[in-house]
Amino acid sequence: MSTVVERGEPATAGRRQPNPNARAAAPALPVAFHQASRVFGAGPDRRVVLRGIDIEAPAGSIVALLGPSGCGKSTLLRIAGGLDRPSGGQVTIGGDPVRAFDPRCAVAFQEARLLPWRSVRANVAIGLPRGGGTEEVDRLIELVGLREAADQRPRQISGGMAQRASLARALARRPGVLLLDEPFGALDALTRIKMQDLLLDVHRSEPVTVLLVTHDVDEAVRLADTVVVLGPAADRRPGSTVLRSVDIDETLRRDPVATAELRDDLLDCLGVHRH
Ligand SMILES: Nc1ncnc2c1ncn2[C@@H]1O[C@H](COP(=O)(O)OP(=O)(O)O)[C@@H](O)[C@H]1O
Ligand SMILES: [Mg+2]
Repeated sequence: MSTVVERGEPATAGRRQPNPNARAAAPALPVAFHQASRVFGAGPDRRVVLRGIDIEAPAGSIVALLGPSGCGKSTLLRIAGGLDRPSGGQVTIGGDPVRAFDPRCAVAFQEARLLPWRSVRANVAIGLPRGGGTEEVDRLIELVGLREAADQRPRQISGGMAQRASLARALARRPGVLLLDEPFGALDALTRIKMQDLLLDVHRSEPVTVLLVTHDVDEAVRLADTVVVLGPAADRRPGSTVLRSVDIDETLRRDPVATAELRDDLLDCLGVHRH
């Protein structure tokens, strides 16, 4: 697969226009799942996890993936990044089928996965061209609030700080697509909100398409241009499908009644029944 990316006007979806003063970055790339499925095992161990998944993430959008634990959200992200292959259907990034790990994607998982023998700064710098990007690394470290911890080792910082370093490391690659698997799930409520703000700031200044797996309906509604709910279909056939796909714009986000209705609808869809 070609890794040459045309530079040009990045397409952006909806509300967040790129900052004209932003650094030159690879353009945001659209991600599309076409009837993607994933089956693990064979014979009696055969397990259909994903079935007939159609999702379109326009270039520059933030798409949140919600769904119960074990429904295949992480599997879907892994397929998007080329870390796993679909059993059927396909995934494209920028129109090209994803066949192997795609350097235009950067990932941040639930666990920070930092190299323990390297400083925070050196971990963030992984993947940058040799000798380049020192200022950029410092800027990202500043952005995620880790300036004081830049010279520390992963064992010396909290889990939340490690997660912030992981996000900065992902951004340092200047990805066209950012894959985030519950990146804020382990953070306390206040830090989580700060990280959500940080993600919006980053997204405003740098063209990138974000696929964000989250358990948190409020987080999805707050951040995403589109919220996709995955789960078992009403036909009871095995495997998760797309149960709901809702576009959100600023008008809806500013309307507390509409936002509350959407939140209730998403919770219903997730099988969370309130009294
Ligand atoms: N490599 C694998 N081999 C077999 N089963 C797997 C593999 N990866 C994931 N699964 C199964 O697929 C299902 C979905 O997993 P996952 O995508 O991690 O769900 P989620 O992220 O929504 O919690 C789980 O039942 C999990 O055990
Ligand atoms: Mg998961």
